[in-house]
Amino acid sequence: MRRIHHVGIVVTRLAEAYRFYRETLGLPLLTEAVIPDQGVRAALLACGDTEIELLEPLDAAGSVGRFLAKRGEGLHHLCFDTPDITAALTMLAEKHVELIDRAPRRGLAGQIAFLHPKACGGVLVELATPTESPEHGAASPVRLKRLVIGARDVKEASETFQSLFGFPEVAMNGGPRTMLAVGRGALLIVPAEEVGGTEGMVALSLVAEDFTALMTAFDRAGTKCLRGTGEVTLEPHASHGVHLHISRYE
Ligand code: CO
Repeated sequence: MRRIHHVGIVVTRLAEAYRFYRETLGLPLLTEAVIPDQGVRAALLACGDTEIELLEPLDAAGSVGRFLAKRGEGLHHLCFDTPDITAALTMLAEKHVELIDRAPRRGLAGQIAFLHPKACGGVLVELATPTESPEHGAASPVRLKRLVIGARDVKEASETFQSLFGFPEVAMNGGPRTMLAVGRGALLIVPAEEVGGTEGMVALSLVAEDFTALMTAFDRAGTKCLRGTGEVTLEPHASHGVHLHISRYE
């Protein structure tokens, strides 16, 4: 796995989500398309060397439509970039990992396949082999630093991600959390009780290239957030159900 290819976020309407993600946050749109077999209209936005995928359900009975009805807008899945998706699926099948797709299919990110959320501690994981080069070159004013995952058993969840995908552990000063490096980004696995009992994806941490300019954009848009000196935490409804933490620094 080369990097976090994208983080998928379910939204009610793409046009509304664009107001925050494109206009206020400033993420460049890379592509938008209807994906009939997933029952969605989806868009990929550049976010550093990662992307944000926004998913608007077109079919209330489809899996994304049911997710929206049950859980509301928010983090939906996590996609890793792999150079050879067929080889990756073969390796996972040999390890008896539960897969939703046993063979790759065409998705917005290239050739894609989903693992069953049971395989990764409640996190829905997608794999993608992009058709274009991973260096898309669209500069974005913020980039993904890490994705926070809540787990009932941090050690077990981190061992699962390490054994399935080979992510190295980043040394931390003890404590109950584990950090795994994925390309230039990272997965931070924390005890579920630290994050209100949530298991699975909880929050995104981003780094802003120009923090002052971003705060000006938030003021202009009336974005509700809690400001510190070099960091800001958005109210989830301001960012379509996503707990977003944006920092000035690494
Ligand atoms: Co996706």
